[in-house]
Amino acid sequence: MAMLFMAPGLKAASWVEHLQAQDPGLDLRVWPNSGPPEEIEFILCWKHPLGEFRKYPNLKCIASLGFGVDHILRDPGLPPGVPVVRLVDEAMTRAMSEYVVAAVLNHTRRFNLFRQDQAEKVWKPRSSLHTPEVHVGIMGLGTLGRHAAATLRLLGFPVAGWSRTARQIEGVECFAGPKRLDEFLARTDILVCLLPLTPATRDILDRRVFARLPSGAYLINAARGDHLVEEDLLAALDSGHLSGACLDVFRTEPLPEAHPFWSHPGIALTPHSASHTYPADVAPQIVENYRRVRSGQAPLNRIDMDKGY
Ligand code: GLV
Repeated sequence: MAMLFMAPGLKAASWVEHLQAQDPGLDLRVWPNSGPPEEIEFILCWKHPLGEFRKYPNLKCIASLGFGVDHILRDPGLPPGVPVVRLVDEAMTRAMSEYVVAAVLNHTRRFNLFRQDQAEKVWKPRSSLHTPEVHVGIMGLGTLGRHAAATLRLLGFPVAGWSRTARQIEGVECFAGPKRLDEFLARTDILVCLLPLTPATRDILDRRVFARLPSGAYLINAARGDHLVEEDLLAALDSGHLSGACLDVFRTEPLPEAHPFWSHPGIALTPHSASHTYPADVAPQIVENYRRVRSGQAPLNRIDMDKGY
């Protein structure tokens, strides 16, 4: 029985090395060389070709090579009843918080504007935004959102969070559910999206949400491109209602050359680089999950299929 690595966009060699270091006897195959499909019990995937799962009749688990599982759940051929798991990793979590902090500080310390001044050789001192008065609001209070909230709090930002179900986090004002979204938005100067992508959160960053933010608010999206209605962001920036945005994810990746985000002065963008998965760090949890499902135990970090995360 075997594990299949099915991530056409990633370099398999390093994954193979680190997974086999955990278990030298591991029968690990790299798609498309899966061998007889009935031998595959565990698939490790990232942006796999849709429909491919159907070929493997004896699957016991499908594991994402990232935090998100939207790339797996959108497959219409997802075999019912097979557990789907994701990675949860401290280095990835920390990296995401670093990204959020960098994006917040680029805005509050005016680095975004200083870069533009530098390009024009303009010497123009600008005062920073005053940290205790900048209300950061984080959408999504899972592992990533909670860590980012704690990190921003250490820097002195007043932090609130919004999530589907009620949470209690020390020092973080928590709002839950659609009914409390407006209240959360009205107190938010910097909106950070760290939500999972589900049918309920797709297109959530739209004109309605932007209109509820105070004038001059700033947006950071490090979750998924499909959370954001791109035309609505452009309209909110061009009207001056939003002061800027930092985006790591896009509806189409790579971002097409003709896309208006590339040259918009209010947008700082990065190419889906907020957080990385390091094979050496996560190989132990993958091999542990493989061991668990083969011995009939429940895998770690299993997705709730009803919630979609
Ligand atoms: C990256 O986008 C991830 O889901 O880990």
